[in-house]
Amino acid sequence: MSLTGKARLAGIVGWPVIHSLSPVLHGHWLAEYGIDGAMVPLAAQREDFAAVIDGVRRAGFAGVNVTVPHKESAFAMAHSVDAAAKAAGAVNLLVFRNGRMEGRNTDSLGLAESLREEIGTLNGKTVVLLGAGGAARGAILALDMLGTASIHLLNRDSKKAAALAAALAPQAKARIEPGALGDWTEAAAEAALLVNSTSAGMTGNPPLDIDLGALPKTGAVCDIVYSPLETPLLKDAAARGHKTIDGLGMLMHQAAPSFEAFFGVRPKVTPALRDALVKVLREHQK
Ligand code: ATR
Repeated sequence: MSLTGKARLAGIVGWPVIHSLSPVLHGHWLAEYGIDGAMVPLAAQREDFAAVIDGVRRAGFAGVNVTVPHKESAFAMAHSVDAAAKAAGAVNLLVFRNGRMEGRNTDSLGLAESLREEIGTLNGKTVVLLGAGGAARGAILALDMLGTASIHLLNRDSKKAAALAAALAPQAKARIEPGALGDWTEAAAEAALLVNSTSAGMTGNPPLDIDLGALPKTGAVCDIVYSPLETPLLKDAAARGHKTIDGLGMLMHQAAPSFEAFFGVRPKVTPALRDALVKVLREHQK
């Protein structure tokens, strides 16, 4: 329920939420488009999620973005979900409209747009994707959107890779070939792109243990995390002359449809926005 029908408030719900870049992202666009609104960080633990959602709906918010650990709860709570949310089994955007909650997922589109911007189509290409968690599921959907012919899905626990490949095979056009990290050298030989969706290399975690020497020089390397912005994997890839794609592109592109749903304007992803986010990330890392 919106109090005026002209709500100009949105939220980002997560735990923790203190380092979320969403308020910065949306704040940048609000200023750029001269909209008098706000994106409010809402720290909510699992057991408080439903109460927080109820509260912001009553307060007239236009909707919320949802992050860890609430994406599955948001999926369960939504009155309806779009095809992307259904495919991902997770919702990162709840839009409050006419007394209903519409669940959407913009994560896969965000990664697809970021990759398209950096390397164009993947039509007919082979990609190696590392990881088999929720992030890998979204990445498979993104790679499929870009026309990827073949995805080598490699995970430390190869059983999880096999299960994810089997789950997505009916809906993906791409051929998904599951395997273990030990299959990297063989899988890399023909790859146009390596995508890391594991949590290895994130701030506080050990780096990935793979030898990039197996990847053709023309192969691009993408890490979907942005903390740190330059992961050990991306640093190694850049030193070897590979094109690198960090996690900020995906973050900015997944936010654009959310902003449009909240504030009615489709915002542009610009170098100035990226600069603003990099500045904040540097502050966080001090
Ligand atoms: P998310 O929802 O972000 O994908 P997740 O479901 O916890 O998070 O998945 C984390 C992924 O990172 C898993 O694929 C995990 O591998 P396992 O399934 O074998 O546990 C992977 N991962 C975490 N640390 C890793 C490491 N040091 N080396 C390789 N893979 C790692």
